[in-house]
Amino acid sequence: MPLNTAPVIPLDDDAYWDNPYPIIAEHRDRHRTAVTPDGMKAILRWSDAEEIKKRPEFENEGLEYIEKRGFKPGDPLYEWRRYSIGARNGEDHRRLRSLVNRALTPKSVEKVRPVTREHVRALLERHAESGEFDVRKEITAIPFMSVVAFLDIEMDEAANIGKQMAGAGADAFGPNVTQEIRDRANDTFAALMAFVGELVESRRSNPRDDLLTRLIEAEEDGHRLSHDELIVLFTNIFGGAIETTASMMTSTFLEFARHPDQLELLRRDPEGLKRGAVEEVLRYQPAFYASGNKANASAEAAGLHFEAGEPLSIIIGGPNRDPARYSEPDRFDITRDPTVWSFTFSMGPHFCLGQALARAELQETAAVIARHTRDLELTAEPHWLPRVMVNHVDQCPIRYRYEP
Ligand code: HEM
Repeated sequence: MPLNTAPVIPLDDDAYWDNPYPIIAEHRDRHRTAVTPDGMKAILRWSDAEEIKKRPEFENEGLEYIEKRGFKPGDPLYEWRRYSIGARNGEDHRRLRSLVNRALTPKSVEKVRPVTREHVRALLERHAESGEFDVRKEITAIPFMSVVAFLDIEMDEAANIGKQMAGAGADAFGPNVTQEIRDRANDTFAALMAFVGELVESRRSNPRDDLLTRLIEAEEDGHRLSHDELIVLFTNIFGGAIETTASMMTSTFLEFARHPDQLELLRRDPEGLKRGAVEEVLRYQPAFYASGNKANASAEAAGLHFEAGEPLSIIIGGPNRDPARYSEPDRFDITRDPTVWSFTFSMGPHFCLGQALARAELQETAAVIARHTRDLELTAEPHWLPRVMVNHVDQCPIRYRYEP
């Protein structure tokens, strides 16, 4: 490598995505930071990632994130993003978060535990005779049904929203956006906003004891939430809940099929160890490859200088496997301290709003795998898809014996 040339995280190389960790580790441990193929600074160490997420000179990327992907003002996806909680910062962001936090009650989170448990068990039982199915193909229905229970919306309403959102958003936020992806995403988001707008109107005339009604009350208050914010916030919660959790549920099956000794441990004490098991899967295979940030003022961090407005990327596999935070970070070990959280739900002002819900769903999934499977194994090797916003494998075919 020539002097003064930063090492590159090869996001444009398909082979990188199947196992990015050795490259990330090499750059993190030797060089501290790296750059992406388009020259953006990439943060790789835990301490640097934590500092950037907590310092006021850094914030989430806003509209530049999709401008870089070729979307323009007036495009439905651009307008959606304008109001999205993940793209807001400062006072506006704090206002939105406190409204959602109030609407996401612990009671509504606990409600999903039995729902998830029953759906995962039923999935395993349904395939008990052959003892085989592809987790990747079948799992998305489960976080979908859990979020329906959580939001207390009708299945047909949810199915319609889900259909609108499927696939389009994830492609549009990925690192490799084509005109065809842009057109599809714009059509989808226009239809989605119209649909949720109608749902809001129907809930306004027939209020219920649910999250959407609580958000409508905030909107009717006039100051707390605008109509566009209300619609987008609802899609943020619904959309944020499904693909991410489906990715992590697949990884739960995947890592336990790959590590039978760890599954055996979990089997001995599913209730006691399910929390540690899930924290380890979250650390080991994060659902997002990166978190998009920018400097809002000129600042020094991670041994680098950032200009005001400069975007930067935190590559989540870096902090999650940083040996300064985790001993033997490449080892999958469910007995690690579950209170030492990884970077998978991010941190700082944008820390995932749905983390308690996702954790509850994943813990029940892990406990059901331990209770109801024996001899769990993969029947073919999954590959990680390159350049997608939410990490997914192409397949996760398993074989097991069902234990009633
Ligand atoms: C295992 C599953 C999940 C993962 C890995 C995940 C990950 C993340 C990450 C990394 C962020 C922050 C990104 C940033 O720094 O800007 C985030 C934000 C968010 N998540 Fe999740 N999430 C998951 C599940 C959920 C669920 C179930 C919900 C809904 C109930 C949800 C709703 C949100 C929302 C609304 C935000 C925006 C918060 C803000 O910008 O203030 N997520 N999530």
